[in-house]
Amino acid sequence: MSGFAWIIGNTDGIGRALTRRLLTRGWGVTGISRSESELSDSRYEHHVADVTEQDFPLTLQRLLERHLPDLVVYCAGIGEELNLADMHLESRTFEVNLLGMVRTAAAVIPPMVTRGSGHFIGLSSLADVLALPDATAYCASKAGFSNYLAGLGRATRKTGVAVTCVRFGFVDTKMAKGTVRPLMLPVERAVDHLECCIRRRPARHTAPRLMIPLVQLTRFAGWLGLGG
Ligand SMILES: NC(=O)c1ccc[n+]([C@@H]2O[C@H](COP(=O)([O-])OP(=O)(O)OC[C@H]3O[C@@H](n4cnc5c(N)ncnc54)[C@H](OP(=O)(O)O)[C@@H]3O)[C@@H](O)[C@H]2O)c1
Repeated sequence: MSGFAWIIGNTDGIGRALTRRLLTRGWGVTGISRSESELSDSRYEHHVADVTEQDFPLTLQRLLERHLPDLVVYCAGIGEELNLADMHLESRTFEVNLLGMVRTAAAVIPPMVTRGSGHFIGLSSLADVLALPDATAYCASKAGFSNYLAGLGRATRKTGVAVTCVRFGFVDTKMAKGTVRPLMLPVERAVDHLECCIRRRPARHTAPRLMIPLVQLTRFAGWLGLGG
């Protein structure tokens, strides 16, 4: 299976590994990140853009005028620890993790619906059900992210356009910087999961599933005031 994909947030981590994998599978890929890309491939094109900039939707519009992708994967994300002495990064986390995804969806879903085909995948997190005191904005942005994609997927169900929310636990990238990272997935394994989602187009995919009871325990501990 191949086609033409956009990957937003792909100069590092999961987005970079997915870009490489899709290129080896014969896909054409356009990547968007704040940095230049080190990838060099005749089927790869890179655009430097920040999803929080005011002209980001215009950048997407210009790209759409050339080609409407079959697949869009939103991988851009940041995860900063809460600093009670300086909370200015809190709103930026929402801008990158949540609003950037909503702006991307707003650009690509309408033409996909008109065409009657397409697939939008967003990388959320198992943290979408948590309220961790050191990752307040991250958890809340992912809660909004997962909830938004669940509704969007229901809205597009009969249009030929699929929406998939992928909820990873820990994946071995620079983002997973804590000391405790149970059941961490190697990045290539995370990409295996994404390939599976591209083929099957589920509304929601959670990996690894063994993290689900751990997350529930963390959530319960939070309710009891024991951390989490
Ligand atoms: N790693 C994990 O444990 C884990 C677990 C669950 C969910 N996730 C989610 O998976 C996604 C990818 O995470 P990752 O681990 O691959 O992170 P990563 O290694 O830090 O990569 C993040 C990517 O996002 C891009 N990015 C960041 N801010 C951006 C902006 N303002 N505009 C455009 N691009 C931007 C970065 O490129 P530039 O710096 O060049 O812009 C980079 O390519 C995130 O949404 C994350 O929340 C990760």
